[in-house]
Parts: sequence; structure tokens; C-alpha cells
Amino acid sequence: MRNEWLKPAVFLLCLSPLMVLGWQLYAGLLGANPIDEVADSTGAWTLRFLLITLLATPLRRYFGWGWAIRMRRMLGLYAFFYATLHLLTYLWLDQFFDWGEIWLDVLDRPFITVGMLAFVLLLPLAATSNRYMVRRLGRGWKRLHRLAYVIPALGVLHFWWLVKADVLEPLVYGVLLAALLASRIQAGRRRRAGSAVREGCIS
Ligand code: HEM
Repeated sequence: MRNEWLKPAVFLLCLSPLMVLGWQLYAGLLGANPIDEVADSTGAWTLRFLLITLLATPLRRYFGWGWAIRMRRMLGLYAFFYATLHLLTYLWLDQFFDWGEIWLDVLDRPFITVGMLAFVLLLPLAATSNRYMVRRLGRGWKRLHRLAYVIPALGVLHFWWLVKADVLEPLVYGVLLAALLASRIQAGRRRRAGSAVREGCIS
């Protein structure tokens, strides 16, 4: 059964972190440095959505939850949406669109370099997430979308370099990403072993 309500419900749920943040900002609940809070929250939600998007395939594989795959594109686009807000917070509220300063910052601070690289890599994924591009790129689409693992890895590194000493939070994201990657590698091995057995039966 296709639950018609599921997509709009997930859509609103994904929007809720932004609504909460908007409310906190409006109500003056973000403390002495609201810009940092906005940057932190949008950055954290970017990373969370990148990981949640990767979770869709294991959810179908291990629990048979086909609906998770139907949400995958929207979740990925939400990761891009939060990343864009995160970048805009930095460019606008932190750097006031001073492109010279921004360029120096990208060159000087490795955590900014890595964050920027992660965002640049997100662009082709967002641009090719529609059905037309899936069909047009064929096998190349799958290869390109392997970046979906590289980008959160850069996100974890970006976070790690930012926090310096207290690495617990980025470590947790890193472990989750490693588990998702391990599950994908294992599924790939099983698939290859299965097709080798089938070919052996046929030949
Ligand atoms: C996919 C891309 C990105 C991801 C996943 C990401 C993720 C994160 C995370 C998780 C944090 C820390 C959140 C926390 O403390 O709870 C953060 C902070 C930050 N990010 Fe990113 N980020 C990305 C791209 C960028 C880009 C492109 C820039 C700017 C060029 C940037 C600039 C910053 C800054 C300045 C902070 C620190 C905010 C503060 O506390 O003052 N990030 N990011």
C-alpha cells in the first residue's frame, strides 16, 4: 500500500529543525552569539541528513521498508538545502560577502577548505537527483552518487577540525558513517557472490 500522506509528513518533519531554529532566533533564545548557533545548527543538520539519506538503503535491505527508498531523494535534497543555509550563514552573516576574506579563509583554515569541498561535491549530486538525469547518466549516475559517502566523511573531518579537543560528537557521526559504509560493502560482496553462484549454475 502506498501511503500518500507519508511524503508530505516527512517533508514537514525535515523542515521542523529550521522552524525550531527560526522560532529560537525570533524569540532571542540563541544566547549571546546567535550567528554561531545558526551556523552550528544548520551544519549539524546537514551532516545528519547526509547520514539519514544513506540509511534508506539498509532500512529496505534489512527491514524491507521500501518507503524509505521513496524518501531518499527528498532527504538528500534536504541535506543540500541545510548545507546551502549553512554556507549562506557563513558567507552573509559571518563574512558579509567579503569575497577576498572568504578566499583567504578557505586557503588558511583547513576546516573551511574541507567544508567548502564538501559543499562543491554536493552540487553535482543535487543537480543530478532528478529522474531525467538518472536515466541520462545510466551507470555513470551510480558512480557519481558514490560521492554520497565521501561528502559526509568530509563533513566529519570538517567538524573534527573545528572542535579540536572535544571530538566526541564528530566521532559519533564518524562511527555511524563507517557502519553505513560497512553495510554497503557487505551487501556488494553478497551480491557479487550471488551472481557468481548463479553464473556457475548456468554455465
Ligand atoms: C556538506 C558540507 C558541510 C557539512 C556537513 C558541515 C557540517 C558542519 C558541522 C557538523 C558543524 C558543527 C556543528 C556543531 O558545532 O554542532 C559545522 C560548523 C561550521 N561550518 Fe560547516 N559544514 C559544511 C560546509 C561548510 C561550508 C561550505 C562552510 C563555509 C565555507 C562551513 C563553515 C562552518 C563554520 C564557520 C562552522 C562553525 C560555526 C561556529 O561555531 O561558529 N561549513 N559545519
